[in-house]
Amino acid sequence: MSTDRSPVAADALVIFGITGDLARKMTFRSLYRLERRGLLKQPVIGVAVDDWGIEQLTARARESIEAGGEAVDEEVFERFVGRLRYVSGDFADDATYRRLKRELGDLRNPTFYLEIPPSLFARVVAGLHDADVVSAGQRVVVEKPFGHDLASARQLAADLHQYLDESQLYRIDHFLGKMGLQEILYLRFANTTLEPVWNRNFVSSVQITMSESVGVEDRGHFYDPVGALRDVVVNHLLQVVAAVAMEPPAGGDADTLKTAKYSVLRSMADADPAHYVRGQYEGYTAIPGVANRSTTETYAALRLEIDNWRWAGVPFFIRTGKRMPSKQTEARLVFKHAPKLAFIPSSSRRPEPSQIVIKIDPSTGLQMILDAQRADRRGASDIHLDMQFANEGGEAATPYEVLLLAAIEGDASAFTRQDSVEESWRVVAPLLDDPPKVIPYAPDTWGPSEADKLLTGYGGWRKPWLTPEPPEGERTE
Ligand code: BG6
Repeated sequence: MSTDRSPVAADALVIFGITGDLARKMTFRSLYRLERRGLLKQPVIGVAVDDWGIEQLTARARESIEAGGEAVDEEVFERFVGRLRYVSGDFADDATYRRLKRELGDLRNPTFYLEIPPSLFARVVAGLHDADVVSAGQRVVVEKPFGHDLASARQLAADLHQYLDESQLYRIDHFLGKMGLQEILYLRFANTTLEPVWNRNFVSSVQITMSESVGVEDRGHFYDPVGALRDVVVNHLLQVVAAVAMEPPAGGDADTLKTAKYSVLRSMADADPAHYVRGQYEGYTAIPGVANRSTTETYAALRLEIDNWRWAGVPFFIRTGKRMPSKQTEARLVFKHAPKLAFIPSSSRRPEPSQIVIKIDPSTGLQMILDAQRADRRGASDIHLDMQFANEGGEAATPYEVLLLAAIEGDASAFTRQDSVEESWRVVAPLLDDPPKVIPYAPDTWGPSEADKLLTGYGGWRKPWLTPEPPEGERTE
């Protein structure tokens, strides 16, 4: 039976770390966009250590919204900043939480958003608890990373579970707010042309690519101890795998959806370091904050197996890298080969396997690649049937807009549950314990050629279906 009760919308959004980088890059812009759509109805109370007043917060909000590429509508902006309040204080000081309680006054159902380092989560949650600010049923939104391995992920959860029930915890993985990812499940199960072939009887392999043209830039301090596997594979890309591979959830409530995803991760074999290639782009070690002799990977390619009835024997090849030729995330099903076509005696060519590509980001779309012999019989070749989903006026909600609204409204379906977090770390653990040597690659290439060997017998990596880079302001991160 579903455990979900009808959620009550929050009567305030309390943001810890509102003066920080993530708020500057994402939060103000997302909240402003919600305000513009008439969906933000609550006061927004920022909490941070900086000795700021409301004027500084307002100035930061405007600067962030503009830097995000939004044309500021003064009326909307006025309404938005009218919601802002600020509590200054050290998170280690109990007085901060008492001040927050006073600021909240009669507001009894705030949603808390912790955009602060995970090492501070437990202290903040304890502070909220001791000051009687957080109680059962209220939501606490937290940002990744959820540990750096299985043991630390468990510890982090144990610390939080001292004060909060798992159902109160909304773990953000911004990929779950992407339209392209949400589209996968619908496309798969709303189309009887797709579902019956979406399994090991027809699919030979699955390729998931997340390429980024940007490098590590000014994030050296954050990135160097982390690397690609921890930064995007264990979270974002395993969520893409789950969306491609899961069974149709038996209900629309959050727990049922999460259980369907969990089942995929639970069926995954531990990853094998023999099928793992790590790369580092040339020039990476010159970035401030990166160790001189760093062996951190900025590129990762690996093979995963899902040992269940739908997928046993179908490898899932995953690759991601920074400083690649283009920004694109896609999932590609490569189908089995057809036999040689005996009714075309003049041709010794075997038809190319069909492919279905779901383009996830920056734009979303569906592509089918089929083999065809044109009417003029000049020779068969593959044809591409492309369907780009329109984003009229660039108005599609950004991932943070989707997720912050869901948290405010109490829709937990697009947040990750602890059991899935733990399974994800369990799957990649052998790669963390026994990483292969890191191989240099030239910037603006598709990574080290050693990664091609992972696909021996599977036709090699297919070049992603590319879209032009979106203008600065339309990027999601
Ligand atoms: C973040 C990673 O979680 O996702 C970044 O920390 C990465 O390193 C980013 O660049 C990618 O997100 P998006 O939305 O731009 O694909």
